[in-house]
Amino acid sequence: MYEELEIREALPEAASMIETFRAIGYSLETAVADIVDNSITAGSNRIYINRIWAGGNSVITIKDNGCGMTDDELIQALRPGAQNPLIHRDENDLGRFGLGLKTASFSQCRKLTVITKKNGETSYWTWDLDFIAECKKWNLIKWMPKEFEHSLDEVDSGTIVIWSNLDRIVASDISKDNLNAKEKFSNSLQKVRDHLSMTFHRFIEDRQISIIWGCHEINPWNPFFPLEPKCQTFPIEYLHGNVTMRGYVLPHRINFSTDKVYNSAKGLKGWNGQQGFYVYRGKRLLLSGSWLGIFHKEEAYKLARIMIDIPNSQDAEWQIDIKKSKAQPPINIREQIEQYAKSVRNAAEEVFRHRGKILRQRSGQEFHPLWLEKMKDGKWSYIVNRKNPTIATIKQIALHNPDIAIETLLKLIESNVPTKTIFINESKDEDSTEPLTSLDNDEVKTLIKALYESFVAQGRSSSQAKEAVKRVEPFNFFEDIIDNINDL
Ligand SMILES: Nc1ncnc2c1ncn2[C@@H]1O[C@H](COP(=O)(O)OP(=O)(O)OP(=O)(O)O)[C@@H](O)[C@H]1O
Ligand SMILES: [Mg+2]
Repeated sequence: MYEELEIREALPEAASMIETFRAIGYSLETAVADIVDNSITAGSNRIYINRIWAGGNSVITIKDNGCGMTDDELIQALRPGAQNPLIHRDENDLGRFGLGLKTASFSQCRKLTVITKKNGETSYWTWDLDFIAECKKWNLIKWMPKEFEHSLDEVDSGTIVIWSNLDRIVASDISKDNLNAKEKFSNSLQKVRDHLSMTFHRFIEDRQISIIWGCHEINPWNPFFPLEPKCQTFPIEYLHGNVTMRGYVLPHRINFSTDKVYNSAKGLKGWNGQQGFYVYRGKRLLLSGSWLGIFHKEEAYKLARIMIDIPNSQDAEWQIDIKKSKAQPPINIREQIEQYAKSVRNAAEEVFRHRGKILRQRSGQEFHPLWLEKMKDGKWSYIVNRKNPTIATIKQIALHNPDIAIETLLKLIESNVPTKTIFINESKDEDSTEPLTSLDNDEVKTLIKALYESFVAQGRSSSQAKEAVKRVEPFNFFEDIIDNINDL
């Protein structure tokens, strides 16, 4: 096509290209998950994660008993972008871009060594970013850390990924005895463990894999708690492209089987943060607790969680990113997702708002709320339930001790204002409730007149008393009535 024109090869500059890779924006947990993806795709059923604290020389390793690679395959695996993202992938393949092993590793460390075993042959190669910067070439080094020489002896086939010079996690000059740094290292890794238990929970539950953390197996964390008897499960919704959706409404706190399960259900981001969609690709969780830009997170919907399953053939439509931590639903199915999610959110709101009712059902006895909410002419109002037995008791006290009765009543009201319910109702309703809508006009007039007369009795003139009444909330909204007070 350009046969007659001059052509020059313009290869990417190795060192700067690598620095670009480092800036893709992985967290330690998404980086480790990307390496675990490769182990699962390689057919492994045991994945061992180890962290060795040695200050600036600390090391993280991820080892599997998967199919392993030949020497040529390993070199190919270590080449950035060795595979075209457009090629078809087996439905169980968790990869897409041919980059994860390199980008995830470089995001955390300056030295990546892979040792692998296949057909009884062991191979190893290392990328050292400092060496690349020095020689300005994509040169792999035939080197491995001595202490890992025998790390694949006990498996027939498998692979170990070794991250050393973890400059993004521990600075190189940190000593082994620095307890602060050690604690930070250990906290970061704690997050990785929790992330893996959520990201791969379906593989662990299906007993397809075990992830061994040090010497303990990681337990799965299923965000939907389907085994909780009071968890509501919605019917499956089918979407274009073999995508499915299933809603769950978690129980109210009082309906969890134990406090321990309730606390676990709170998850890494807390109740509010965990609401929303959970998008899975294959059985692997890509993103958790996000309304995907369709809704905002709100207190009222914190019990709603919706599972979305997409096959890897939908990667392009759903804009899966290199880190496997983002997804965007295609425009043509957003409406269907929104409608379905609305019904799940409504059910979640019901559970959240009516805990009083649930309590009543639970005890099988009549329940007496202190507040009742009423919708009148499209507006919410909140009234104290006169039938609550406490009110009758306070009335009795008022017969002999009116001051104590009033103080008790005010305290009772102050300490039980149904702020959550009001917040939810008002955030949905643009026109906020006007004051005193639960009082009729005659009651307002009677109160205004009584207050006006008490001000006059204290020695104020008629106009001073009117001005004084106008400065008492909530009568500031009723200036007309106050001005015509003498006609009342
Ligand atoms: N643990 C492993 N066992 C066997 N083969 C592996 C392992 N890790 C990587 N490979 C091989 O190396 C290749 C490159 O891995 P890499 O993670 O860079 O890209 P990918 O998995 O193909 O795509 P993605 O960028 O989406 O992760 C894989 O396709 C696989 O063939
Ligand atoms: Mg990969």
